[in-house]
Amino acid sequence: MTSNAQKIINVKVSKPYDVIIGSGIIENVGKLVSQVVTTKKLALVTDDTVDGLYSQKVINLLKDSGFEVVKFAFLHGECSKNIDTYSKILQFLAENQFTRTDAIIALGGGVVGDMAGFASATYLRGIKYIQIPTTLLAQIDSSVGGKTAIDLPQGKNLVGAFYQPELVICDTDMLKTLPKSIFQDGMGEAVKYSLLDKRVFDLLLTDYDIVDLVYLCVDYKRMVVEKDEFEGGLRKLLNLGHTPAHGIERLSNYTIPHGNAVAMGLKIILKSSLNHGFIDSDLYQNAIKIVEDNVRQTACPYTIEQICNASLTDKKRSGDYITLIMVHGVGDCRPVKIEISNLWGYLD
Ligand code: NAD
Ligand code: GLY
Repeated sequence: MTSNAQKIINVKVSKPYDVIIGSGIIENVGKLVSQVVTTKKLALVTDDTVDGLYSQKVINLLKDSGFEVVKFAFLHGECSKNIDTYSKILQFLAENQFTRTDAIIALGGGVVGDMAGFASATYLRGIKYIQIPTTLLAQIDSSVGGKTAIDLPQGKNLVGAFYQPELVICDTDMLKTLPKSIFQDGMGEAVKYSLLDKRVFDLLLTDYDIVDLVYLCVDYKRMVVEKDEFEGGLRKLLNLGHTPAHGIERLSNYTIPHGNAVAMGLKIILKSSLNHGFIDSDLYQNAIKIVEDNVRQTACPYTIEQICNASLTDKKRSGDYITLIMVHGVGDCRPVKIEISNLWGYLD
């Protein structure tokens, strides 16, 4: 059933903005966008899959509110998150004579959001953008917090900027068209939040409403980015499971999607947390169950040695050290700085 009930989270960072979460709230897109921009000129950036599902509806709703909308759609998938597509978006904006007062709408998953966000951060040294995330991963993670990026052949997200959106609209009804595998991939990040925030852990044990899951994950992320917008310290907590995950993604040549790799990474971190005596076996078993119950593919096909070697180019590395996030309890995750040469020994 569709309803217009919504929850609002205000993210108080250098440029505060609202994240609006609810079922069916896309119907209000015209009014919501009008509240955060002065322009009538918008560029909607999306991928071909989301284009076929939602662009026309969103464009019609925006036009009903008096906006003029031009659209740029690119081939879906991580393979498009590169300099070539980024350059085409910039040229599209220039060809359509977008000025600094105009705005971009990012309609899609994390690939669209990261790339449209980076184009917004850099076109004319920065124009406004609004995130309309359409995957679970994008609703609970990538659309909030202002990390924008594109990939290089040498690695993921190697070029980017911290650049906050004007508004994030999470319509959970849009998740209904997600293939199950892509929804479950997003659950990898939800399970990560469950180890960081007991509210999410407890929710995952119930027959929950998806609006509540998105709300609690975004609320945890809000708390973190408000305290550490530019990832000087606390924000590193959000990288729980990500160091092994990045190694796993690289080893699979990015055929294992991000959320699944995070779930595999969480299992490695949980095992190491158990081995170091940070958690007891009851908590270990419960946490592993949450991971395996919620994510489809959690059996890791690589050894710890292979994963550690592949993680060494992780951009979270700083000199000869890397910061790992270890689990000490549900809602109690802590960083530990490890010498790169000792990573394998520490995790194995
Ligand atoms: P994605 O954007 O590639 O979307 C996955 C697939 O789902 C695509 O094929 C897309 O076309 C399709 N899709 C999207 N919405 C749909 C819908 N409602 N119905 C049917 N199909 C739909 O992938 P993703 O998992 O959303 O995002 C992954 C990206 O996010 C990666 O590039 C990753 O680096 C990035 N990321 C960024 C942050 C951040 O903080 N900026 C955080 C986590 C991940
Ligand atoms: N996805 C991790 C972060 O936003 O910091």
